[in-house]
Amino acid sequence: MRDKTFYVTTPIYYANAKPHIGHAYSTIVADVLTRFHRQRGVDSFFLTGTDEHGVNIERAAEARGIDIRAHVDEVVEQFKSAFAKLEVNYDRWIRTTDPHHEAAVQKFWQLMEERGFIYKGSYEGWFCGYCNEFKDVDVKDTDPQCPIHERPLDRVSEESYFFKFSEFQKPLLEHYEKHPEFVQPDVRRNEVASFVAGGLKDLSVSRVSVKWGIPVPGDPNHTIYVWLDALCNYITALGWGSDEQKDFKRYWPALHLVGKDILRFHAVYWPAFLMAAGVELPRQVYAHGMLLRGGQKMGKSLGNAIQLEALHQHFTPDMIRYFLLREVVFGQDGEVTYEALIDRVNSDLADGLGNLASRTLTMIRNYCEGRPPRAAVDDAEVRDGIAEAKKKFDEEFASLNFSRALEAAWSGLARVDKFITGNQPWKLAKDPSVRPQLENVLATAFEGLRQVVLLVAPVMPESTRRIWAQMGLAGDPLQIDPNEVRWGEPLEVSTIERISPAFPKLDKERIMSEINNEASEPLAPTTSETAAAPQADQPTAPEPATAAAAAESNIITIDDFIKVELRAATVLEAERVPKADKLLRLIVDLGEEKPRQILAGIAQHYEPEQLVGRKIIVVSNLAPRKLRGLESNGMLLAASIGEDGRPVLATFTEEVPNGARLK
Ligand code: MSP
Repeated sequence: MRDKTFYVTTPIYYANAKPHIGHAYSTIVADVLTRFHRQRGVDSFFLTGTDEHGVNIERAAEARGIDIRAHVDEVVEQFKSAFAKLEVNYDRWIRTTDPHHEAAVQKFWQLMEERGFIYKGSYEGWFCGYCNEFKDVDVKDTDPQCPIHERPLDRVSEESYFFKFSEFQKPLLEHYEKHPEFVQPDVRRNEVASFVAGGLKDLSVSRVSVKWGIPVPGDPNHTIYVWLDALCNYITALGWGSDEQKDFKRYWPALHLVGKDILRFHAVYWPAFLMAAGVELPRQVYAHGMLLRGGQKMGKSLGNAIQLEALHQHFTPDMIRYFLLREVVFGQDGEVTYEALIDRVNSDLADGLGNLASRTLTMIRNYCEGRPPRAAVDDAEVRDGIAEAKKKFDEEFASLNFSRALEAAWSGLARVDKFITGNQPWKLAKDPSVRPQLENVLATAFEGLRQVVLLVAPVMPESTRRIWAQMGLAGDPLQIDPNEVRWGEPLEVSTIERISPAFPKLDKERIMSEINNEASEPLAPTTSETAAAPQADQPTAPEPATAAAAAESNIITIDDFIKVELRAATVLEAERVPKADKLLRLIVDLGEEKPRQILAGIAQHYEPEQLVGRKIIVVSNLAPRKLRGLESNGMLLAASIGEDGRPVLATFTEEVPNGARLK
């Protein structure tokens, strides 16, 4: 059954520095989701905004030598204009300095207090003003640093109000158990649940040392802990706590999109606060991964973030939006490079969607006076292929698997492309006796294009609107529910006249050289740079020209490498191996006569159902070996990342047949 309403939120961004691509990420996703639901007729609401209280904001204003309010006002404008440039269309911008928010947070506090969950005590600990939280540090460390920000921690001792966090361990665990969809992806829920299962200490929720905050009701020496203040934005923005609760009643509960770095606040603190105040919990907290640069999280602390201004110099908003959704698997970390962005635009947009649109429309203009013909006979393969792509697109979108959803749309597009190429309409056009056949081909291509354009409109609102208009179709594709559209239905179409490429092909070399000249350092080393010649003043390593020389170092020859057979495969089945925590048993299709069984030690990081249907890379000529009585016939490839060596499976970003060899 379709949900009646849809309410999505992004985290509210700290108003202490200008926005970068990491902030744009969840905001773009929220925008796309809202457009997706609205297009399907669901009453939707999209909230974003700024987190403006606390010491880090005070310090940022102080460092600039300006008044705090002037500082936050300025940053808010920067965020708003950055999001507008990315075609982000939010419904409300909440600021934690909004008077109605401040009043509602005080009301929320009073409710928690009246219900017996707040008491006064005193607290001493190491505090990071940038994280806004006390840190657990080694007792022997006399000058500890914040592990995230690598800056000294402040020793803070003060009278404080406490929240009875410890009382919520059981209710929280019960909630995770009863509503497994509450925290997603599953692996994150497991992390959160084991954190809670480890015990919850009462939480200090007021500060006397922080002046820039919301006063504690009845004790204005204290300000309310910024995370408590900030989290409340999700309900105060809907009018909770005021007489005007209309939107709260209409849209709550929310889907909260958050970075995995702030998941604990949303999946543990926030529901505990809500339970304490007696307010309904959110529908879901979904933690996305981090955008990385050179393997590290991009951000202001490390100063390695891609600046949005730089992106806009070379890419349109739709290109950026498409790239972020297609390239980075939502829920997982993803390296972002300009090279990958250019490649995606060229292969998927210029050569893919853009090319399909231009070739279809140009042929209709040239062979049919610009009037799209109607098909006398349906091409079942294309029609069914598109229907399948639409179904898969919606299913994947509903689970926030944007990358796979777009993959599905592109597989629909590939069907249409293949159909055109197979029927060679340019040849048919030369022979008047096969006119009906030509018209059928062009009608089918036009219809396929129409349906794919509708599907991807939430992701690329501007370019799909442009293609739609060039197709001679009326209205805005975002106002048309793709599921209400029938294949081959009669259309009112005006004559196709001006056709301009929807996506220009980007000149990689030129753009990269401009980017490298603009920035003091390139975004990511290219392969050629990684293997660049040594500096003149550094000793050079001897060239391992021979196998003997190679054997001396850890460098291998091509003959060594070629011995390893790496092949593309698809996971057909996956299940846990009983009594083996780490092992999954996979049945994989390597394009051979029979699928193979492979055992992989990834059970702590991947759920079996996550893997079914995934494209993987397998070492296919490894000698079979037995594990727990089961035979493993190959090994899958994964990167090992982070301190715990978490595996991230290797895959392809384009269609590859099973069995294809990597070399
Ligand atoms: N103000 C808090 C959130 C309060 S919500 C009640 C905050 N703000 S933030 O500006 O530091 O971060 C906001 C969001 O941006 C977080 O979800 C964070 O994960 C996200 N990102 C910041 N850098 C990022 C990347 N490099 N990649 C992806 N998202 C990242 O935390």
